[in-house]
Amino acid sequence: MVSLMRTECSPVREDRAMSEEQSIPQAPTGTHDVMPPESFRWQALVAAFAQMATIYGFGLVHTPMFEDVRVFHRGLGDAAEVVSKEMYEFEDRGGRRLALRPEGTAPVVRAFIQHRPPTPFRAWYASPSFRYERPQAGRYRQHHQLGVEVLGTQDPDVDVEVISLAARFFAELGLQGVTLKINSMGCADCRPAYIEHLRTHLAGSQGELCEEHAERWQSNALRLLDCKKPACVDVTTRGPVLRDHLCEACRSHHTRVMQGLDEVGVASIQDDRLVRGFDYYTRTTFEFAALALEGAQNAIGGGGRYDGLVELLGGPETPGIGFGIGIERVLLACDAEGTFAAAVPAPAVFVVDVTGGDHARDLVAKLRARGVFADRSYDGRSMKSQLKVADRSGAAFAAIIGDQEVQNASVTLRSLRDDAEQVSLSVSDFLSRFSSRGDM
Ligand code: HAM
Repeated sequence: MVSLMRTECSPVREDRAMSEEQSIPQAPTGTHDVMPPESFRWQALVAAFAQMATIYGFGLVHTPMFEDVRVFHRGLGDAAEVVSKEMYEFEDRGGRRLALRPEGTAPVVRAFIQHRPPTPFRAWYASPSFRYERPQAGRYRQHHQLGVEVLGTQDPDVDVEVISLAARFFAELGLQGVTLKINSMGCADCRPAYIEHLRTHLAGSQGELCEEHAERWQSNALRLLDCKKPACVDVTTRGPVLRDHLCEACRSHHTRVMQGLDEVGVASIQDDRLVRGFDYYTRTTFEFAALALEGAQNAIGGGGRYDGLVELLGGPETPGIGFGIGIERVLLACDAEGTFAAAVPAPAVFVVDVTGGDHARDLVAKLRARGVFADRSYDGRSMKSQLKVADRSGAAFAAIIGDQEVQNASVTLRSLRDDAEQVSLSVSDFLSRFSSRGDM
C-alpha cells in the first residue's frame, strides 16, 4: 500500500504528468502535416494521377478510413506483418471490432462486393493508410497511396494497362531512375507444389539461413525469397524458381504480360525473387523501385493480381488487379532527382486599398467571381506594408486604390515584376482587362 502510494506520487511520474499537461501536442510519431507550399505539390500530384486514371477509364472511389477488422484479417491474411504486427485495431463504443485501413485494395473489394457495380469495374483512389511501423525516412505510420483496382477480368492485357499506367505516371513526373520488377506468383493450382519444392530445398539448408528465418522458414517459405540477408539470398538463389513451376495457364498469362509491356514500350525486369507481403496475390506481381532512394524504402509503388480476393471476402468468383503508389516516397524520389517542383500559385493581382478596405473587399470579390486569383491584405495596413505583402505573395500586379482613385472611380495598376510604367484604368476597364486575360 505504502509502496503503491509512493509510486503514484513519485516525483518522476508527477514531473511527466505535469510536462505532458503543459507541453504543446504534436502530430503523432510517424505522421506528418502537409502544409503549403508543399501541399501544392501534393495537389498537383493527385491531379496528374486523376487525369491519367481518367483517360485509362477509372472512376474515383472513396471508402471509409476504417473497416470491419475481418476485411483485412481475411483479405490480407493473418500471417501478413501488416496485419499481425502493424494494424491499428480497436473496438468502437458499440463494441464493433474495427481497423484503420492499412492498405487500399481490400476496402475497394469489400465495396465492390457490397455494391455489385458492372464489370470490369475500374476504381482509383488517393487515400491515407495506417501501419504501426518503426518510423524512418520514407516509412511512416500514416502514409498516403494513389492506387487503382480493376475487378472482373483476368485478361493479361489489363495487367499491361495497369502497369503501364503507373509507369507513365512516373515518367510524367519526370522521374528517370525507376525500375520495374515483375514476377508471377502462380495460382492455387501451381503455387502449393512449388512451395513444397522450396521447403524441401530449405530443409536441406536450414543451418545456413539467417537467424530470423532459421526458425521461421517453415511457416512462410515464400517470404525467404524476399530476405535481403546474404545467408538467405545464398540459399534461395540455389533453390527452385517459381517461374519454372507455373502451370500452363499462369505461364501463358505471364508471357503475354511481358510481351505486352514490351510492345507498349514499358521496360521491365523479370525478378524471380519478387514476392509481396500479402497473401492475396496471384500471378502477376510487380514493384517500382526508385534508384535515387535508400534501398529499404525505395519501393515507390507495387501491386499485382489477386484473383481469389473477392471470394475470400464473400463475393462471387471475380479476378482483380491493381497497384498502390506511396505519395511520400514518390515525392522523395522527385526531390532526389530534382524533378516535379510544382509551382506555387500566385495572385494575378493584389488589391492595395488605403482608403479603409471597402474597395479591396468589393474588387477582390468581383475578380474572384470572374475566376481571377486576386488577393488583398487586411487590418488597414499602410501602403508600404500592403505593397510588401503584395510583393511577397508573388502577384504580377498591384491594383492601388487611394483617395484620388476613389474620386475618379479608377485603379492604378502597377507591375510588381518589371519596371513598366504604372497606368490608371477605370474600374470597369480594370475588371474587363483581368477577366478577359484570366491569369495574366
Ligand atoms: P504495398 O506495397 O504495401 O502495397 O504499398 C504500396 C506502396 O505504398 C509502397 O510501394 C510504398 O511506396 C508505399 N508505402 C507502403 N508502406 C508505407 C509506409 N509505411 N510509409 C510510406 N510509404 C509506404 C499495397 O498496399 C497494395 N494494396 C497495393 C496493391 C493494390 N496491390 C494490388 N492493388
